[in-house]
Amino acid sequence: MVAAAAFAGACNETALPPAPSGPASAVSTAALSATVSAMASSSALAPMPAQPPPTVLADAKVLPHLEPLPPMDVPADNAPTEEKIALGKTLFFDQRLGKDGKFACEGCHYEDKGWADASALSKKADGSMNKRHTPTLINVGYQKQWYWDGRAASLEAQILAAWKGQMGVAETLEERVKEVGKVAGYSPLFKAAFGSAEVSSDRIVKALASFVRTVRSGDSPFDKFDHGDKTAISADAARGWEIFRKIGCASCHAPPLFTDLSFHNVGIGAAATPPDLGRGAVTKDEADNGRFKTPTLRSVATNAPYFHDGSGKTLEDAVDYMLSGGPAGAKVDGAFKKVTLKSPSPASKSSAASVDERADLLAFLRSITPKHAHFERPKLP
Ligand code: HEC
Ligand code: HEC
Repeated sequence: MVAAAAFAGACNETALPPAPSGPASAVSTAALSATVSAMASSSALAPMPAQPPPTVLADAKVLPHLEPLPPMDVPADNAPTEEKIALGKTLFFDQRLGKDGKFACEGCHYEDKGWADASALSKKADGSMNKRHTPTLINVGYQKQWYWDGRAASLEAQILAAWKGQMGVAETLEERVKEVGKVAGYSPLFKAAFGSAEVSSDRIVKALASFVRTVRSGDSPFDKFDHGDKTAISADAARGWEIFRKIGCASCHAPPLFTDLSFHNVGIGAAATPPDLGRGAVTKDEADNGRFKTPTLRSVATNAPYFHDGSGKTLEDAVDYMLSGGPAGAKVDGAFKKVTLKSPSPASKSSAASVDERADLLAFLRSITPKHAHFERPKLP
């Protein structure tokens, strides 16, 4: 409790804005209906329900509390169970779901690449290129709107769209469902998860979403430090945490998720022709043009490259960009400013005592990346 209070105190110091609020994130009825018309008018965006489903809290026995993450809201009609998670995990790695039985979710979201993809942009199963970088799946269960532009109001809707679009089965979905149904080894898994062995696209999506909600990152060395173990991170990382708050990174990358779950324009891709309008293409509000979802920074050291266009090759590149305040002349959100950090002067290079605030900031970001835990790949039936 003391530790939690200390943490909240730390947040208050920097006067963090309350999570999703303000013009960039307020989801008004008008914005939702604008979303619907944006879906209808843009062939690039698959139509999907704009209303979020009613939610309940996930059962802590199935999704154990992970310090310091909040409890997770899950759709009332798809609360995770161990059986659904096990089925979803298997389906996630199964190429039989994709075009010609040769493409899995894993084809872009690699566990050992921070559940993202090492290429800036990846190729869909139909051979066409994605226009945006594959985001990490880490902590996506805590989001309220999915995709870089937030166009999906539920994880289930997003996953159905990914299955059809990314995996090239928009026209052949039912064929793929039948193929999965033919795999005898799946019958007991569906039966355990849903009460009967029937295989349907709805059940497959629900199971996939249940598994994706288990992809989480918390309990990092930084969290141990924040809860009182002052030896859990280096002095550099501890200074980096101070810097992170002092220079305003935490106003958008707000703890504990290190994202405000909102959308901001930080100038990434501003020079592209035509530019990706991001959130603006969804809300049709010009003020949202160039805004993209603030990514979580938990486990950020694992999922290079960075940004919605994959243009940040390394964590160092991404941080240097964020310190730069964006390209000259680009229209960026007011909270996004150029920051000059103290760095060692060339004369004092050899001095161990010289101040290197950029190195401290990077050490802090690495400290919210827990040690890679062994991941047991599923055995496909
Ligand atoms: C060919 C590459 C590819 C495949 C295969 C793929 N994805 Fe993705 N995924 C992406 C890209 C690219 C985006 C971001 C698109 C955007 O924001 O417009 C994305 C976004 C997501 C998101 C949203 C993350 C967020 O932060 O909002 C989730 C969740 C997700 N994918 C899960 C899945 C699942 C489950 C499957 C299998 C059914 C899958 N993906 C298959 C490339 C892929
Ligand atoms: C105004 C809000 C805002 C502020 C302030 C901000 N960021 Fe970001 N950050 C974002 C957004 C939005 C993105 C994604 C941009 C895109 O891809 O278009 C991002 C992306 C990143 C990424 C890449 C993550 C990934 O997975 O792609 C890193 C690393 C990062 N920021 C670190 C920082 C640091 C360090 C600071 C402080 C110097 C900072 N940010 C300040 C909003 C912000």
